[in-house]
Amino acid sequence: MQVESRNVETLRWRAGRLELIDQRRLPLEFEYVACDNALQTAAAIRDMVVRGAPAIGCSAAYGVALEAQAHAAATRAQFDAALEQAFAALAASRPTAVNLFWAIERMRQCHAQMRGGATRAEAAALLELARQIARDDVAINRALGRHGAGLIADGARVMTHCNAGALATAGHGTALGVIRSARDAGKRISVIANETRPYLQGARLTAWEMVQENIPVTLVTDNMAGHLMQRGHVDLIVVGADRIAANGDTANKIGTYTVAVLAERHRIPFYIAAPLSTIDLAIADGSAIPIEERDAAEVTGFRGLRWAPEGVNVANPAFDVTPAALITGLVTEKGVVERPDAAKIRALFGR
Ligand code: MRU
Repeated sequence: MQVESRNVETLRWRAGRLELIDQRRLPLEFEYVACDNALQTAAAIRDMVVRGAPAIGCSAAYGVALEAQAHAAATRAQFDAALEQAFAALAASRPTAVNLFWAIERMRQCHAQMRGGATRAEAAALLELARQIARDDVAINRALGRHGAGLIADGARVMTHCNAGALATAGHGTALGVIRSARDAGKRISVIANETRPYLQGARLTAWEMVQENIPVTLVTDNMAGHLMQRGHVDLIVVGADRIAANGDTANKIGTYTVAVLAERHRIPFYIAAPLSTIDLAIADGSAIPIEERDAAEVTGFRGLRWAPEGVNVANPAFDVTPAALITGLVTEKGVVERPDAAKIRALFGR
């Protein structure tokens, strides 16, 4: 039986405001946080109210639209200055996911095209573009999900890392989009969700999404992944991406590289699911991808509980890079690229 999975509304436009599910509070509380301008939106991205590469891109687009709306009655000079500040604040919110910069660039191009006209008309056009980016994201994820679903056998046990679900996008998800689409196509699948230390996107968000939809899910801590693979409990791995270099090297949540190395060792297919907006052709290989370093407090404890001694040195890189050589395939809205490399990735863009 074919069913179409319901969407979690990660971000929505309501009464002239951007509303975001507060992902810091999930799964204990479900509530929306409202943003009225670009600075508030940038803060929501920085503070992880919203996270996940496509979701922060869509939020940034709405952040620009909010700022334009707030200055729609201002002079052209004031309007332009406010937008420049919005672009800068949003671009400074998080460094690794390229979808953020991709979305800002699209908004900037719209601004450049409409600069000769009325500010009210431009504000309306920017809002329409933000809405379009969010609508397209859902459609892209559904297309990507259909391509990826073909890779998953009935009864497969699928491991994922971090949260690349509806919560990380405007809807449906990328890695979890593949899982949802496989389920929607009638396949019985179960998910192994890696907890994803230190921020626990797997335990808090992926597990929540799967439980909401009655997709069987088993939560494990990250250091259990190798054991499960060795014992033959994992059939396939699919994860999302924050930035894919021109040669296919892929930055994703810290710990993804470890999972990919283990997958190679155990000959388990390892797939990246991501839209083309996650590919950064300007970066030749993964070594040049900026890796966000986050607060030490995420490693020394959680929500006020501290377990590490005062005075200890801490490293907290939020992402790592999986070399293209470890990637079985890249699942995009244009199809699955087996063993991605520079030529195959260029071909996706018709180059
Ligand atoms: O730090 P986060 O939670 O923003 O990191 C998210 C990830 O690493 C996701 O896997 C990635 O953005 C893909 S989301 C479809």
